[in-house]
Amino acid sequence: MKQIQSISYPIYFDSIATHLNQFIADGKYSRFFILTDEHTSKHCLEYITSKVDPDKYDLLEISAGEESKTIDFCIGIWKMLIDFDADRNSLLINLGGGVVTDLGGFAASTYKRGIDFIHIPTTLLSQVDASIGGKTGIDIDNLKNIIGTFTQPKAVFIEHTFLQTLPARQIKSGLAEMLKHGLIADVAYWEKLKVSNLELPSTELVYESILIKNKVVMADPTERGLRKILNFGHTIGHALESYSLDNDKNPLTHGEAIAAGMICEAWLSHQKAGLSAEALQEITDTFLSIYGKYDVKESCHPMLRGIMKKDKKNQGGKINCSLLTKIGETQIDNICTDDELCDSLKYYASLAYEPA
Ligand code: GLY
Repeated sequence: MKQIQSISYPIYFDSIATHLNQFIADGKYSRFFILTDEHTSKHCLEYITSKVDPDKYDLLEISAGEESKTIDFCIGIWKMLIDFDADRNSLLINLGGGVVTDLGGFAASTYKRGIDFIHIPTTLLSQVDASIGGKTGIDIDNLKNIIGTFTQPKAVFIEHTFLQTLPARQIKSGLAEMLKHGLIADVAYWEKLKVSNLELPSTELVYESILIKNKVVMADPTERGLRKILNFGHTIGHALESYSLDNDKNPLTHGEAIAAGMICEAWLSHQKAGLSAEALQEITDTFLSIYGKYDVKESCHPMLRGIMKKDKKNQGGKINCSLLTKIGETQIDNICTDDELCDSLKYYASLAYEPA
């Protein structure tokens, strides 16, 4: 069984139950709590609870979806922990996607000035991204992760079998972050991944994606420099995601939003950071063929720029992007003007795309 070391904690891969039991026993926790949403309580919880002592834990459940990543849900978790008399020697197990791991991590990192927590990510997106690197957070209005902490979990457990019950759209959402890992840091991984079985990336490809992210967060846990490379596609992607959450009946997933963001930011990379025209074309074609095209009307540009202006990655009020110099290499701290950002959205809008 594979295991890798992250900043201050192990990441265990597959057949995780043995490690989980050992971890709980070694931790000598007074009690533990399992945070789920309605999907993970149906599809994944039994995998965990069938192997642990039923007298030792309580269940906390939130509604699935980004709408739950708010201070109100966080207060709900704090209140449940208080009602269950959770002391400082308690453990919170976050069993779910990025909403559960971000929100649960935030609630645990602040409850009684911080209790231990672990992540058992159940979506591809949370396995390759949200659970790795110690970012916790909640949203306010349409600003994603605007409040949060860097607090490392005590362990992360990656179980590939959880991915088998995920809808195809959720797999594609995580795949966008995997493709990003290749684009920003590992051209060989990008080449291999884009021709692999994209419907369910293999255990090995998930493992390699986590290795890439882990190497980055180990080198820069609090995003002072290198870790900013992980933001490629996210300045515009997060704005599209927030906009879509507020305006669309069937909002974009995170992966769909950052796929569009990566096309726009690849265009910016071509204009400002030396990315070749061929690489821009390759990136554009790859993401369009997997994710299709989101209809971004020019009338939305002011609102999108408004969201980008509030992005937590900005410095001195300037919008700050991580851009590619070539596939596999990223340059941080590129200030982009309003006009450049709008032009990148216009490039995206101009792309020809015929749905299959
Ligand atoms: N999701 C980007 C990061 O963890 O830094």
